[in-house]
Amino acid sequence: MERVTVGVESGRAGVSPRGWRSGARLRVLVTGGLGFVGSHLCLTLRARGFEVTAVDCLRSSYLPPAGPAALARFAEQDICAVRLLDLARCDVERLVAGHDCVVHLAALPGVRQRATLGELWQQNVAVTAGLVAACARLGKRIVFASSSSVYGDAPALPTPEDAPLAPQGLYAASKAAAEGVCRQLHRSRGADVVIVRLFTVFGPGQRPDMAISRWIAALLRDEPLPWSAPSGARRELTVVEDACEGIAAALERGVAGRTYNIPGCGSVALEDLVPALERLTGRKARTAAREQHPADVLATAACGERARLELGFAPRRSLLDGLARQVEAMAADLAAGARSRRQRLPLSPTPAVA
Ligand SMILES: NC(=O)c1ccc[n+]([C@@H]2O[C@H](COP(=O)([O-])OP(=O)(O)OC[C@H]3O[C@@H](n4cnc5c(N)ncnc54)[C@H](O)[C@@H]3O)[C@@H](O)[C@H]2O)c1
Repeated sequence: MERVTVGVESGRAGVSPRGWRSGARLRVLVTGGLGFVGSHLCLTLRARGFEVTAVDCLRSSYLPPAGPAALARFAEQDICAVRLLDLARCDVERLVAGHDCVVHLAALPGVRQRATLGELWQQNVAVTAGLVAACARLGKRIVFASSSSVYGDAPALPTPEDAPLAPQGLYAASKAAAEGVCRQLHRSRGADVVIVRLFTVFGPGQRPDMAISRWIAALLRDEPLPWSAPSGARRELTVVEDACEGIAAALERGVAGRTYNIPGCGSVALEDLVPALERLTGRKARTAAREQHPADVLATAACGERARLELGFAPRRSLLDGLARQVEAMAADLAAGARSRRQRLPLSPTPAVA
């Protein structure tokens, strides 16, 4: 396994396998490390030579391999240490102190998030502020996972990082506010913080509330697809392993105080996903029209130039590869659920009482 070290390359702060100080493996703390993106990121960072600790309080909803499935796998295969902690109620400075760097993914995620403004402020802004301030005091690098939703309905597509922020909805506003705190702590206290903006991430373990998961679940159960997207809606889609490589590149090579889009396999028309999912599931889709959500934008598309030039990152995986593996994981989960329900059935059914 490649050894990773902390250091400064060409005057840039960063943590890198090719850093200036050789020696011990770097210890990285991944918040939200049992979530959809986090559970994959722990594997990516481990494969790059980091010693990983995942911290999570398992408050989201999950599909395998995320959530409890990740907890079991990490322990069985000795992939990383896991701390089951609520970041809003623990001594984050003490937690960070045992590590060399942090990737902060823990949040109440999703543009359709139903949490109150108070909860979003606490979990998405205040927790981020506490972690970034602790990292600044301790001199540790932190990567903060923001969202393309901060752009709102961007006038320029593909959208570059310096486009104006126009969040629609409280979740997007909480991410924009957290970004503002990161930049301010960089300017005022020298926080070594790098912001990454993820677009729509998909692949095995995608959160069950996200559209692709909901559509695959509906197809596999022969139910109508809930469809609220307006005609012409498009999303930049990033296969989860690509998103994790982008985050790792930002950790290793990002410039402190900078923001990076993490692009994926392009901006895809949502209507084109339906025939692809029909082929992969072998089912015919029926759609059920739902009202459009006010926080949904028409289109997202990432300009990936900065990530390519400064992080040396370019996504490698195809749309069909990500979709096929997501369908496979969800079909296996559904079959395992059906098997365990069958096993729980009584051997001789109780006769009905007249
Ligand atoms: N999935 C996407 O498409 C996407 C897109 C843009 C941005 N993001 C951002 O990426 C991050 C990860 O998203 P995800 O889809 O993996 O979500 P997820 O809900 O699967 O993972 C987040 C994890 O954070 C944990 N968590 C939340 N609050 C916590 C707390 N106080 N203490 C400890 N753990 C806590 C949750 O239990 C959960 O396991 C989030 O910050 C999200 O806003 C995701």
